[in-house]
Amino acid sequence: MEMRYSQLFFLPVFLFINGVSLQKTAVGFIGGSVVLPCSSGKPPSTVQGIAVFWRHSGQNVFIIIYGEVSEKGQDPEYKNRVESFPEEFKRGNFSIKLNNLQHTDAGEYKCSIVTEELVWRVKLSIKEKPIPGEGTEPRPEMILMFISILYTAIIF
Ligand SMILES: *[C@@H]1O[C@H](CO)[C@@H](O)[C@H](O)[C@H]1NC(C)=O
Repeated sequence: MEMRYSQLFFLPVFLFINGVSLQKTAVGFIGGSVVLPCSSGKPPSTVQGIAVFWRHSGQNVFIIIYGEVSEKGQDPEYKNRVESFPEEFKRGNFSIKLNNLQHTDAGEYKCSIVTEELVWRVKLSIKEKPIPGEGTEPRPEMILMFISILYTAIIF
């Protein structure tokens, strides 16, 4: 078991030369959550055969092996920050939810569905949290317009 696990670990590196790659984008806010999509679009032939690797800049974000979530090998940075949707696995949906977002989470995530030779690349952008009540503040262009109206009134 241990041997087979470590062998599977290196599979994604060379498996996808002829595989399919899909590109997606996602946006999240500092301290917030984001769902990163990854789906094969069809039910896997066997649950036990499922092997999915989520990686980000050389780190293991999330691993599903033999149809089960494996915390072994997951980078400490992602411990307790990743949620999955095990009910969706049987539909071939291996999307994850990343919580407590940080600036360092930005960048490209690769979801490799090993058995399907399918890779999803999800580009995540991280933004500052929107300031509450920002919408009620007068916008700069409104102030500028008001000033120019005032000037026009004074000159003429
Ligand atoms: C996969 O599951 C997630 C979480 O439930 C959901 O948001 C997403 O729409 C699903 N994607 C597909 C292709 O079904």
